Amino acid sequence: MLLLGSLLSFTALATAACAARFPKPQIKPWVPPGPDDSRGPCPMINTLANHGYLPHHGRNITASMIEHAFTSFLNVEAGFADAARDFAKAFGHDVFDLVDLNTPGIIQHITSLTRDDYTPEQPQLKADPLRIESLLADSDTPFLTVDSIAKTRLRLLQESEPRVLPDNQVTFTLFEAAMTLTMMADHSPDADHDPPPSAYQGPKDRIRMWFEEERFPTEFGWRPSKRTIKLADMSPAIDAIVKSMEKQDQNGKVALKFHS
Ligand code: HEM
Ligand SMILES: *[C@@H]1O[C@H](CO)[C@@H](O)[C@H](O)[C@H]1NC(C)=O
Repeated sequence: MLLLGSLLSFTALATAACAARFPKPQIKPWVPPGPDDSRGPCPMINTLANHGYLPHHGRNITASMIEHAFTSFLNVEAGFADAARDFAKAFGHDVFDLVDLNTPGIIQHITSLTRDDYTPEQPQLKADPLRIESLLADSDTPFLTVDSIAKTRLRLLQESEPRVLPDNQVTFTLFEAAMTLTMMADHSPDADHDPPPSAYQGPKDRIRMWFEEERFPTEFGWRPSKRTIKLADMSPAIDAIVKSMEKQDQNGKVALKFHS
């Protein structure tokens, strides 16, 4: 009995030591939005609200709340929240509901990876599973890559015709494509180390769960990045995506105006 007791306490001690060395991720549970919860078109902001890193009701949100969720949980630098400050300024209120992020022409745009183009009748579109399947099908490996997402961007520009994505929104789509490749990866490439285009790849199983359910794919091994992800880390990916788009658009069907 004594032996069993000391064995048990040894196991408990060993488990505690192990847990301290390999802390289990403390990720708040995912709770899907209810009918009265406010959600917008950004898969990351919605996911943070679904896990309670932003108020689950998605109302009365400020840029500072988003910045706090980014720096304290997601481990991306505060600058990623500048988009929220710019949005609030353009929207005309420091406090907004997530549904307000659908306002066309501020950040929201056509040719999205996951949602059909808005129309005046349908200004608040949700992610479309078929559109997500097409995004994933553009790569024939288990990862989305620079080349696959460049192919997707070209395809979506063509599918939206005759509507044309305004030049000033092209940058948003490239930034979002870069974030899609980096945010679900185990090691998001550090721009300081001059990463090659092949360093950027996002696992499809994680991206599918993130986009379809707006849920952090911890079941597929996702954890917040250990290294703080910088805005600058997106630049090599964006450059590589633009180059790949230019190469793949050989017939010049899509007028690319990324130069300058
Ligand atoms: C780490 C930070 C962020 C990540 C990883 C992220 C990720 C993404 C991705 C991947 C998309 C593209 C969705 C698609 O094309 O279907 C997107 C769209 C969007 N994001 Fe975020 N986002 C971040 C920060 C923000 C912030 C701070 C705001 C402003 C409050 C914001 C507002 C939006 C909006 C309005 C869209 C819709 C664009 C469209 O019409 O497709 N995002 N985001
Ligand atoms: C949001 O703010 C408005 C105005 O102050 C208030 O009436 C409302 O109850 C708030 N909603 C939530 C969910 O906090």
